[in-house]
Amino acid sequence: MDVDLVKSGITGDIGGKIFYYETVGSTNTAALEIAGRTEEGAVVISDSQTKGRGRLGRCWISPPGVNIYLSIILRPGIESGHITLLTLMSAVALAHALKKTAGLAVSVKWPNDLMVADRKLGGILSEAKISGKHIVHAVIGAGVNVNMDAGDFPDEIRAIATSVKHETGKNFPREPVVSEILNETDRWYKILQGGRSGEILSEWQRLSSTLGRNVLVVSGLETYSGLAEAIDEGGMLLVRIPSGEIKRISSGDLTVLK
Ligand code: BTN
Repeated sequence: MDVDLVKSGITGDIGGKIFYYETVGSTNTAALEIAGRTEEGAVVISDSQTKGRGRLGRCWISPPGVNIYLSIILRPGIESGHITLLTLMSAVALAHALKKTAGLAVSVKWPNDLMVADRKLGGILSEAKISGKHIVHAVIGAGVNVNMDAGDFPDEIRAIATSVKHETGKNFPREPVVSEILNETDRWYKILQGGRSGEILSEWQRLSSTLGRNVLVVSGLETYSGLAEAIDEGGMLLVRIPSGEIKRISSGDLTVLK
């Protein structure tokens, strides 16, 4: 990836400092390592990852030359219990960036998936160093499948994964997409920092493929099924279970039921 081209497209504060690697274990791991000694808005980008990490201990397929793997270092003044807000903010920013650069309509699936119809185009892994109730720094990692051919996904995810190329039939240069992801993140992060997280939540709801659907959520040792009714001000998912009770879920693995 041509990192100078990425830099030339940056208009905000995020991406003022970029650490670029041809290959790295995981951009999130690298960003967590340097977060304490670099500026807010610094970004780690890699052309490939050898130990790309997904949520819930899964791995993230990260071949060179085709996709986007980046991690943004932030110091939001929000409570640690509200970290899901950063994931939702990032999902909104990514969806806007993909619409602008590739014309692709992306929906968001709680808490961290970027979807096109029923297939996953990208994912977000938010991690943070926490002290008491305070986030010392947060790392928002985003992986987007851009020019990956459908046939190159491993067998076990081929039916549920997609890429920008697979959806549009075209190859896209990654650099403008990366710049726009950073610009949109800058825009939505300023909204968050300005105390207007309600705007992020309503935009997330507009883009959501989760709300109003019957879902199954595995959260730790608990499994819930019911109607996904809303998200609360901290980004938690409210699910109405058959007894009528509302369950407030902070994280988990969600399946939309047909
Ligand atoms: C998920 O959907 O499970 C989250 C996937 C997050 C993948 C990205 S790629 C860049 C960053 N570095 C990682 O190791 N993971 C995230």
